[in-house]
Amino acid sequence: MIEVQNLSKRYGDHLAVDDITFVCRPGTVTGFLGPNGAGKSTTLRMLAGLTHPTAGQATIGGHRYTEIPNPGAQIGVLLDASAQHNGRAGREVLTIAAQTMGLPKKRVDEMLELVGLSPKEAKRRVGNYSLGMRQRLGIAQSLLADPKVLILDEPANGLDPAGIHWMRQLLRHYADRGGTVLLSSHLLHEIEVIADEIIVIGNGRIVAQGQKEELLAGAGTFVRALEPDALARALSVAGIHVTPATADGFTTDADPADVGKAAAAAGVALLELRPGDRAGLEDLFLQLTAGDQREALAPAPAPGFGPTAPQGGQA
Ligand SMILES: Nc1ncnc2c1ncn2[C@@H]1O[C@H](COP(=O)(O)OP(=O)(O)O)[C@@H](O)[C@H]1O
Ligand SMILES: [Mg+2]
Repeated sequence: MIEVQNLSKRYGDHLAVDDITFVCRPGTVTGFLGPNGAGKSTTLRMLAGLTHPTAGQATIGGHRYTEIPNPGAQIGVLLDASAQHNGRAGREVLTIAAQTMGLPKKRVDEMLELVGLSPKEAKRRVGNYSLGMRQRLGIAQSLLADPKVLILDEPANGLDPAGIHWMRQLLRHYADRGGTVLLSSHLLHEIEVIADEIIVIGNGRIVAQGQKEELLAGAGTFVRALEPDALARALSVAGIHVTPATADGFTTDADPADVGKAAAAAGVALLELRPGDRAGLEDLFLQLTAGDQREALAPAPAPGFGPTAPQGGQA
């Protein structure tokens, strides 16, 4: 279990991380979502013992990272995939890491296979790797000792859609075996496909956190019909206020069930009905984490974005 309690980091007069508290439980993937400069990497660095907190604490299994003997064997960390030694071959990077942690050499081949780096690619220098290949190598390194906890900073950066799908399967499987995963991203859709729990951070503060379903459910409903005008009339009769979203679709704050019932009552054929208005959610995320209007952002309105969530800043 990862526990972050009232954690802050100040650089000069800039509060990069501002009194944040959260936990990540075994068996779950937690997505740490926020725009560039939000404080994600600083938080993860404090968890990995690389940056000293100004206040509060960050522990893994009840201990600070720096107090854990052979921490690499307990906690897999991938902080900056582009920071690997450019002159070494991929296999060499893993072999050195395995030796340092006292692991058998066969783990190197197993991990290369797991992350989909071919023997030929593994012989190439890391300097010639694409960012996606570096991420795969970094994930292989973090998994070498089969740790119980994984901390990954923007691991989806540079991965193509197939790569993101692959990582999702990998992390799902890892969490299903009881692992604890914390990964960061600045993109909602990456987090959305991978995480069970989401923590949204902006300007160093947590602005929303909760189960993914709850957060997405708070984003209303999208509905699309063969005859959009008839749908708009039916919903209006039912007292459901909608906003046009596409040529034949609308978004609304109402529940999908209420929207479906209103459409059925009026005999309107629907083409699509689903919770979560993606565009709206992206907007809300941008609003919640935007700009320097920190005073407009109250502490975590958990759970869910909800209608009461603070809406400071500009997108
Ligand atoms: N070593 C440092 N010295 C001064 N400021 C820093 C340092 N590291 C990060 N910051 C600042 O802290 C804020 C958060 O940075 P970071 O945690 O890297 O954000 P993120 O990973 O969410 O993009 C940024 O404004 C960044 O410029
Ligand atoms: Mg970062």
